[in-house]
This record gives sequence, C-alpha cells and structure tokens, in this order.
Amino acid sequence: MMTLMEAIDARHSVRAYQDKPVEEEIRRQLEAFTEECNRESGLHIFIRWDDPEGFDSRMAHYGRFRNVRNYIVLSGKETDDFDYICGYWGEKVVLFAQQLGLNTCWAALTFNRKKVRELIPDGETMCMAISLGYGVTQGVPHRNRSVREVTENAPDEAWFAAGVEAALKAPTAMNQQKFLFSLNDGEPFARVKGRGACRTVDLGIAAYHFEAGSGRKVRH
Ligand SMILES: Cc1cc2nc3c(=O)[nH]c(=O)nc-3n(C[C@H](O)[C@H](O)[C@H](O)COP(=O)(O)O)c2cc1C
Repeated sequence: MMTLMEAIDARHSVRAYQDKPVEEEIRRQLEAFTEECNRESGLHIFIRWDDPEGFDSRMAHYGRFRNVRNYIVLSGKETDDFDYICGYWGEKVVLFAQQLGLNTCWAALTFNRKKVRELIPDGETMCMAISLGYGVTQGVPHRNRSVREVTENAPDEAWFAAGVEAALKAPTAMNQQKFLFSLNDGEPFARVKGRGACRTVDLGIAAYHFEAGSGRKVRH
C-alpha cells in the first residue's frame, strides 16, 4: 500500500469511472477506517456502494461526472465547527481510499442532493458527497497559488514548508485555495482568506494535508 504522502501526491479529482466493482476486501478496509473516523470525530460518514443514483442528475452530468457507482456521504450533527471537521475527516477518508487504489472527487453541488438527502437520518445535516471508484484516468495535478499567497508570518523551517507544500496539493472547491497558514505562539494556525463558497470545508481539508506534511497539529 502506498504511504500517506504518496497518496497526497497521487490524488487528483477523478470524475469518470470504470464499471469495475470495488472488491469486498477493499470495501471492508475502507468501511473499518471510516467507522474509526466516526468514533473519533463524532461525525456520521458513510459509503454507498453500487448506487448510481447519488450522482445521477443533470447537475452531476453538468459537473462532468460519469459512471459514479459509489460515493461517500459526509453527514452529522451540525456544530459550530461542522464544515471544518467534515473537510478534515472527509479528506482523511479520501486519502485512505487513494492508498487502497481508489479515486475520488469532492462534490458540493454537482451530485443528486435530493436523492442523497433521503439517506440522511433525522437530526443530522448533510455536508456534501464524494464520488468513489476506479477512475478511467488518475486525473491531473491542479494549478497552485504561490507559497507567499497562502502563508503569513511563515517561519523559515523545513517542517512548515513541508506542511504548506502538502496543503497546496489539497483539493479545494473550484481550486480556490483560499486558506492561509501562519505561526501563532509557535504553533501552526490555519484560517480562511477572502470570500468563496466551501472555504471552511476547504480549510479542514488543507489542514489535514498540512498536518500530514509537517507532522504538527494545526489549530484554527
Ligand atoms: C469542498 C469541495 C467541493 C467541490 N465541489 C465540486 C463540485 O461540486 N463539482 C465538481 O466537479 N468538483 C468539485 N470539487 C473538486 C474541485 O474542483 C477540485 O478539487 C479542484 O479543482 C482541485 O483539483 P484536484 O482535486 O484534482 O487537485 C470540489 C472540491 C472541494 C474540496
């Protein structure tokens, strides 16, 4: 299995999938990992296997999604930090899926929200969904903002640079990368910069990447 850092390098959004079903053993491992994430985070992240309806809509087609047969749903009790933790823990599941050889793409808008919302238990809020499966391709690297645009008060330290480098590889809505990493009282700190939809989910995703790259816990 590839390492977490190899998964960060290899992950790109993939929207078109092969017919090939995901093997039982791979399903079992991803389910077990997701359950562990739910226990730690208090979220309710779940996977729908062999259910093409979740990404079967005009919006999904418009979003260039094709043949999505499985997907991850991010759901849970809405708290002040809901969007951030959905990003953080959702990306943890995405990168584990990548380690297992699967491809993914986050979707805030271009999936069948109505259909997927029917799966959400009462009292929970749906954040978004993530397509899952064996991609037709492995995707391509996105364009990046410069290190200067996404940092402030950055220390000249290798661990910080490694954190930022990993964060710049994170998926963000429309590739907006509206996050900012800085050093606050000696600790890495993440916050959103500017306007844009989904930036708090994006921030949680980028923070998880930063932690993986730097080995340091990020506050926000
Ligand atoms: C929070 C979030 C929401 C997203 N929503 C959509 C979406 O609705 N439709 C879509 O096609 N892609 C969506 N994406 C995928 C982004 O467009 C993609 O991550 C970005 O362009 C960077 O490319 P990469 O993931 O290949 O690195 C979303 C990504 C994130 C992180």
